[in-house]
Amino acid sequence: APSPVPPGRRAPYDEEWPTVDTDRLAQRLSAVVGPAHVLRDPALCASYETDFTGRYRGRARLVVRPGDTAQVAQVLRLCHAAGVPVVAQGGNTGLVGASVPTPDGGEVVLSLRRLDCIGDVDPAAGQVTVGAGVVLSDLHRHVAAYGLQFGVDLAARDSATLGGMIATNAGGERVVRYGTTRANVAGLEAVLADGTVLDRLAGLPKDNTGYDLTGLLIGSEGTLAVVTRARLRLVPRLPERVTALVGLDSLRAALDLVARLRVLDSLELAEFFMAEGLALVLETTGLPAPFRTAYPVYLLVECAGRRDPAEELADVLDGAGPGETAVALADADRRRLTAYRERHTESINAAGVPLKLDVTLPLAELPGFVAELPRVLAGRGRPYLFGHLAEGNLHVNLLDVAAEDEEAVTSAVLQRVAAVGGSISAEHGVGRAKARHLRLSRSEAEIAVMRSVKAALDPQGVLNPGVVLDG
Ligand code: MLT
Ligand code: ZN
Repeated sequence: APSPVPPGRRAPYDEEWPTVDTDRLAQRLSAVVGPAHVLRDPALCASYETDFTGRYRGRARLVVRPGDTAQVAQVLRLCHAAGVPVVAQGGNTGLVGASVPTPDGGEVVLSLRRLDCIGDVDPAAGQVTVGAGVVLSDLHRHVAAYGLQFGVDLAARDSATLGGMIATNAGGERVVRYGTTRANVAGLEAVLADGTVLDRLAGLPKDNTGYDLTGLLIGSEGTLAVVTRARLRLVPRLPERVTALVGLDSLRAALDLVARLRVLDSLELAEFFMAEGLALVLETTGLPAPFRTAYPVYLLVECAGRRDPAEELADVLDGAGPGETAVALADADRRRLTAYRERHTESINAAGVPLKLDVTLPLAELPGFVAELPRVLAGRGRPYLFGHLAEGNLHVNLLDVAAEDEEAVTSAVLQRVAAVGGSISAEHGVGRAKARHLRLSRSEAEIAVMRSVKAALDPQGVLNPGVVLDG
């Protein structure tokens, strides 16, 4: 039966659609993608409606699974004509509520997972074209055969898709060496809200022909266009690798060590976690403790090169001060050390539904911010801190925050971040989670420009309403 346009949304502008008729929309979408790829059964829709922490959940009007760019364009054209909001979704590993529908927004979930083709690697250009639904670990395996690698890597590599990583400008673990996703994308194909296809897949390294549309769409969180394919930059795959885990007595000691590591051109990763997080990981996963002694802070370091970087890393670590170091060269041993850091997310999820605040701090402010945190939280929630130390990217995960305290705790933490010159979102994006806090990190003038861009590309406001820009 026809349902009214959800509150706060403009009426469909196509006169053919005076009200949103989901049955009719489903029929039209089925004609485009095939009936098997329009899901309405609540049991089949469920996994598309909740994020993997269980914090963000909604109800999809329906889930549609197009198989190529032309189908994405037709799906968007139909939803646009009907005035139906659309949430694009890849691996659904996002953490700010931008990839799932809202409880009563009546969104269509547009799953890009079937766009999973990986093209041939172009070895001369050092590039490859991938579909938005390609899973990161599949890309890693594919390009390794050419002696190349994709510079971005993250713990969710077995589920995260390239389209979602581009939409969020994902960072992850190797930003210190290769930059964020933005630095590793040479071009894009994307579909605008009305179904117009933009093709910037040529990936020319030099191309100064006006505005950088690829750069604009990266990190736009599904609010400006839907990414369908990407031309990715690849870097040499470095065969010699060493990983070390260091136990330290303070964050300051960890930062001193990062300063000394930075001179190594082999440095790929410098991640940290703390005693409380490690205890939770050991309890949840059953992994053995890395050292006999527990330390307040742990630094995970990886170096890679053509020549074995173990010796130069050992030279730096020798001066690390009191503490212990475990070094691994073999892949299985390296993975064992990395697991202490990477398994934080699942261990925290296993203990409850966390409030996850992903922030960047100027490195000089990081120890002070962490010392101040108990005062800021005032007993509201149990903190677990970990993240990407080389970038000052701190994941503040809080368990057991009472529902009525969530908003106040979020505001207090983010205000403190802004007060010391940090960013309220480092790598997870703004999403719905932080849209109302955007002013802490962006000026009124910047937000006005963002609103103009949104209005120009998506005048009907059908792409991910309420994400990045609230209201
Ligand atoms: C990570 O660094 O592991 C990811 O950002 C995921 C998370 O923050 O839980
Ligand atoms: Zn992270």
